[in-house]
Amino acid sequence: METVSIRKTVLFVQIWVMLNVSPSVALCRFPAFSKLQLPLQTIGPEASAFDRKGGGPYTGIADGRIVKYQGPRVGFTDFAVTSPNRTKAKCDGKNGPELQQICGRPFGLGFYYKTGDLYITDAFYGLVVVGPSGGLVTRVPSFQGRNFAFLDALDIDQRTGVVYFVDSGAIFLTGNTTRIVESGDISGRLFKYDIATKQVTLLLSGLSGPIGVALSKDNSYVLITESIAQRIRRFWLKGAKANSSDVFANVDGIPDNIKRTVLGDFWVAISNTKQRTTFSLGQRINRFGKVVETCNFTAQYKSPNGITEVQEYKGKLYVGSLDQNFIGVFGV
Ligand SMILES: *[C@@H]1O[C@H](CO)[C@@H](O)[C@H](O)[C@H]1NC(C)=O
Ligand SMILES: *[C@@H]1O[C@H](CO)[C@@H](O)[C@H](O)[C@H]1NC(C)=O
Ligand SMILES: *[C@@H]1O[C@H](CO)[C@@H](O)[C@H](O)[C@H]1NC(C)=O
Ligand SMILES: *[C@@H]1O[C@H](CO)[C@@H](O)[C@H](O)[C@H]1NC(C)=O
Repeated sequence: METVSIRKTVLFVQIWVMLNVSPSVALCRFPAFSKLQLPLQTIGPEASAFDRKGGGPYTGIADGRIVKYQGPRVGFTDFAVTSPNRTKAKCDGKNGPELQQICGRPFGLGFYYKTGDLYITDAFYGLVVVGPSGGLVTRVPSFQGRNFAFLDALDIDQRTGVVYFVDSGAIFLTGNTTRIVESGDISGRLFKYDIATKQVTLLLSGLSGPIGVALSKDNSYVLITESIAQRIRRFWLKGAKANSSDVFANVDGIPDNIKRTVLGDFWVAISNTKQRTTFSLGQRINRFGKVVETCNFTAQYKSPNGITEVQEYKGKLYVGSLDQNFIGVFGV
C-alpha cells in the first residue's frame, strides 16, 4: 500500500517535472531546406519583406539593389535602388564594402500596406521609401537635420502608420564584428517616423549595438536586439511604463534581426561563435521572453558571419545572411 503511494508520488513528480521544466526548447518544425537563388554574382540578403498581396520575398543585397522574387521560373528581378549615384555598370555584382557608399546598402525592409509603399533602412542613405512599382527611393527627413550613423532594421505599425527603426551607431561603419563587439559601444538609438506627419522622434538612446526591431502584436511595446550587449530590450509604448525600457531576454550569442509571428511570438536570428566556429540558430521566443523553439541552421550556413534573419511567413521560415547567394527557405 505504502509502496504504491510512493510510486504514485514519484510518477506524479516525474510528470510534473516533464511538463514544467523540460524540455524548455521544442524541436524545430521546419526540417526541409531549399534555396531561392539570388541573381548571378550577388550575395547578402540581410532581410526580407512580402508586399500586401503576398508577393516576394523582396530583399536588399550587398551590391545595393533591392530585388523581388518572381517565382521559380523568373527568379529575382530588380525592384529598387537606394542611391541616386548607383549605376548598373559600376555596382551590379560588386559586393565589397568599398563601393557601398556609392551603390547603397539596404538592410531593413517593410511594406506599409495602406499605400503599398516600401520603407527601407539603408546603412548609408538612411530611412528611404519607394512606391509599389519600385525605382529610385525618396529620402525621408532625418532627425534634427543630421544624418544617421548607420541604419539597420525597421518595423511598421500598420494601424498607426508609424515606422520604428534603429541607428546601430558609427562603430558599425567599420564592418568588423570583432571590433564592434569588443567596443562595448552604447551609442545606438531607437527612433520612430510618423508617416502622416513626417516627423522623426527619438525614443531611446544608450542602446548597445541595436540591429533588430519588432513591434508586439498588441502594439504595447517594441523589442530591440542589442548585438553588443547580447540581449533583447523592450521599450514600452503604452501603459504605466510608457517611454521606459527593460530587459526582455538575455541571449546566448549575438542576436540580429527579430521578426514577429502571426500569433505574436518572435523569431530571433542568433550567431554564436564557440571555438572559432559560428553556430547559426533561430530561436522563437514567446511574449514572456521564453525560448519555445530552436532551429539550427549551422549545416546550411557554413560561413563566419552566420545568419541575419529568421522570418516565419505562411508556414515557412525565410533565412537571411550577409554572405550567401540565396535566401534559405525551411518548410515542413
Ligand atoms: C553623387 O553624385 C553627385 C553628382 O551627380 C555628386 O555631387 C556626389 O558627390 C555623389 N555622391 C557620392 C556619395 O558619390
Ligand atoms: C578587426 O578588429 C580586431 C580588433 O580590433 C582586429 O584585431 C582585427 O585585425 C580587425 N580585422 C580586420 C580585418 O581589420
Ligand atoms: C511619452 O513621451 C511622449 C513624448 O515623447 C509624451 O507625449 C507622453 O505623454 C509620454 N508618456 C508618458 C506616460 O510619460
Ligand atoms: C547545430 O548543428 C551543428 C552541426 O551542424 C552542431 O555542431 C551544433 O552542436 C548544433 N548546435 C545546437 C545548439 O544544436
